[in-house]
Amino acid sequence: MHPFQKLLALALVLAWIAPASAQDALRGKRYYLDTARLVGASVSCVDCHSGLPPGLFGIGRAANNPAIVANALNTIPQMTPLRGKLTTADIADVAAYIGNPGVASPNLRVSTRNPGGGEGSDRLDFGTVLQVQSSARGTVRLVNDGALALQLTTSVRIVGPQAAEYSLTDSGCRAADTLSAGQSCEIGVTFRPAPGSAGLRTAAAQIDHDWVGGTAAVALLGTAEASAANPPVSTSSGGGGALGGWILIGFVGLAGHVLRQKR
Ligand code: HEC
Repeated sequence: MHPFQKLLALALVLAWIAPASAQDALRGKRYYLDTARLVGASVSCVDCHSGLPPGLFGIGRAANNPAIVANALNTIPQMTPLRGKLTTADIADVAAYIGNPGVASPNLRVSTRNPGGGEGSDRLDFGTVLQVQSSARGTVRLVNDGALALQLTTSVRIVGPQAAEYSLTDSGCRAADTLSAGQSCEIGVTFRPAPGSAGLRTAAAQIDHDWVGGTAAVALLGTAEASAANPPVSTSSGGGGALGGWILIGFVGLAGHVLRQKR
């Protein structure tokens, strides 16, 4: 047989068996990793049986054996928070996943690039920004490094105490976008302190998706620094006179110093 024909035949066989077997293990993986959210409980299987593939506490005995999982749920005291929360189908799928931990699935990874350099996974740090005149732009990147596609289900939203001081510069991650295996998208976020704001300003960027966790989120952190043209509202007491002026000059000097250090 020509190698290509062989591949085609293999693909056909896989397509035929996949819905029956792999599909359930995939659903089981969701329930294993995201139990708390999916069934409304306080813990997920993975929280106690940590590590992938599932191994800890003899869980491997449940591979393709739903009765073992059902029995564990009914008898192991630590597993009481999940008792009665999973359906027979959920339990069967979880057992299928334990028996096939390498089942193809999506896998969403989030990374960030700070404006001043440096990278992270759960936060975007804008550092210190002079209020009003200046702004800083950072990037959030979503990568699907799994083997199956996942779907974004909302557009990006910015929420939290100082959400108004952050804005989306551009969003390559949009509602209803599909991230197929290996695909990524980027979100640009700009921090621009409002007049009179000073100190740490926080918010979060969030986007919903259909894989484990349901929402990808990063914290947005930036420090607003007063400038000569926009003194902090809270310290403008009126009649500050010469002293007020000196404080302002001090602020400008300090801000300049910090900005120089950041380079
Ligand atoms: C709060 C912690 C916790 C959670 C959550 C939890 N387990 Fe367990 N599980 C345990 C502990 C502890 C044991 C081991 C008890 C022992 O060996 O005495 C165990 C044992 C097991 C066993 C082995 C039973 C046997 O007969 O040897 C299986 C299977 C199992 N868990 C499946 C699951 C599945 C599936 C989930 C999610 C639906 C889950 N567990 C969630 C703590 C937990």
